[in-house]
Amino acid sequence: MDLLLMEKTLLALFFAAAIAVAISKLRRKRFKLPPGPIPVPFFGNWLQVGHNLKHNQLPELAKKYGDIFMFRIGQRNIGVISSPELAKQVLQTQGVDFSYRIRNAAFDIFTGNGQDLIFTDGDHWRKMRRVMTVPFFNNKAVQKYSRCWEEEAASMVEDIKKSYPQAMTTGICMRTRLKLFTHNNMFRMLFDKRFEGEDDPLFLDLQELNVKRDVLAQSHRYNYGDFNPILRPLLRGYLNTCKETCEKRLRIFDHFIQNRKKLITSTNDQEKLVFAGIDHILEAQQMGVINEDNVRYIVDNMNNAGIDTIVRSLEWAIVHLVNQPEVQRKLQYELDTVLGPGIQLTESDTHKLPYLEAVLKEVLRLRMAAPLLVPHTNANDAEVGPYDIPAGSRITVNAWWLANNPAHWKNPEVFRPERFLEEDSHVNVNGNDFRYIPFGVGRRSCPGMVLALPMLRVTLGRLVQNFDLLVPPGQVNVDTSEDDEQFSLRLLNPLKIVLKPRSSL
Ligand code: HEM
Repeated sequence: MDLLLMEKTLLALFFAAAIAVAISKLRRKRFKLPPGPIPVPFFGNWLQVGHNLKHNQLPELAKKYGDIFMFRIGQRNIGVISSPELAKQVLQTQGVDFSYRIRNAAFDIFTGNGQDLIFTDGDHWRKMRRVMTVPFFNNKAVQKYSRCWEEEAASMVEDIKKSYPQAMTTGICMRTRLKLFTHNNMFRMLFDKRFEGEDDPLFLDLQELNVKRDVLAQSHRYNYGDFNPILRPLLRGYLNTCKETCEKRLRIFDHFIQNRKKLITSTNDQEKLVFAGIDHILEAQQMGVINEDNVRYIVDNMNNAGIDTIVRSLEWAIVHLVNQPEVQRKLQYELDTVLGPGIQLTESDTHKLPYLEAVLKEVLRLRMAAPLLVPHTNANDAEVGPYDIPAGSRITVNAWWLANNPAHWKNPEVFRPERFLEEDSHVNVNGNDFRYIPFGVGRRSCPGMVLALPMLRVTLGRLVQNFDLLVPPGQVNVDTSEDDEQFSLRLLNPLKIVLKPRSSL
């Protein structure tokens, strides 16, 4: 290339870059963005905030910048909402504007590019939510499946009494048994199937893959590619593991789906077939409402959203009852006096137990299973308060902080169920008070709440009816350290406790 041509090329490149910068500045000037730390090119605020995007670290930034602040990581705007008023605006008043979801390279893989319900929007989301509501997310389903949950809770109690003699002495780790219990609840609802025990190979495979998927989905690694697409090639190894894990899980789900299809076609007397939730989903597929992939991702979503949330909440509930024996005794007293000693709790009795309800509400306040909800986004430019929110911003509602801000709650760091019977007795889980929204509010709120609450009530009630839950010998308290996951709030060390059968039973 001669010198003149090279000079011309360089000049052209320089002008093109200058024009691109000027256009981007002009475009940015249109927006009155929420306050936040000043971003630097390419990294945004990455170097300042690092990975500290957790529910208990974000309040520091909120104190500095306000109830709505925005920072930039790479190319992505992240808006954080930290007041009940602004949460109401984003989730309810402008709920439609902010009802979209963001996917990234990892979630494109995990959802088959949005074949699921949780990480899609628009008409596909509406259709999926409708299809799933009929068999799962309503009171009729609760009536239908509560017997399964009661049976599974009874089986867990019996197992602990018979198969774990050390439960009474040195103590046992509850996590795997709680996982088996929750997988069984889910697979009975979905397929009318249960796993035989903690060593059932299918259960072992599935729960290992469920954990692996969860760890990959919460990894900080995908942020690099999400925030700066230029860095995506560096993610190849990680994304391959995501793909492999996703395929293995789908193969297990296919196994259940195909077996169910075979059973339906081979059963002559359909009246005798116990209806399973998947039957309705397969009918929708047959009618052409959804496709085969949608069916698999419905099973996938039920596993992702409906298992770990329950296990985590139960673990936290047990931790607090062990560490605060006075709360446990009060709960046992309520169950004994309302139901009578030895009468096992059923779903239909749960409305008579206000203290049990208050204990659960307190667990979901202090140890919210999804403390930042699931991130929302806006498809179009929008406004919140006096600020502009550019289209495609990731909007994080810090629901945990709304429920744990000392400006709005009395001693929020203390586990005290009584608050829901005294000064906060009007507060419900359905979002009637935006300080307390563990299931979100509005069109993207959790449809599984209707199942989660009775399942949690029955299980927790049965455990304290049948056992004194105690700290293992030599320990003063159960460790309450939290895991360092990005989007969830999990007990760091698997819960080990002593379960002593109650003498009155
Ligand atoms: C303690 C238990 C649970 C908690 C605390 C919880 C919480 C949440 C939260 C905070 C969201 C996101 C709301 C938002 O983005 O604004 C959500 C979404 C969702 N949850 Fe739950 N959940 C629980 C149990 C369940 C169960 C048992 C199921 C199913 C059986 C379930 C199914 C779903 C689904 C499908 C979504 C996505 C909804 C959508 O995007 O339209 N959840 N959940």
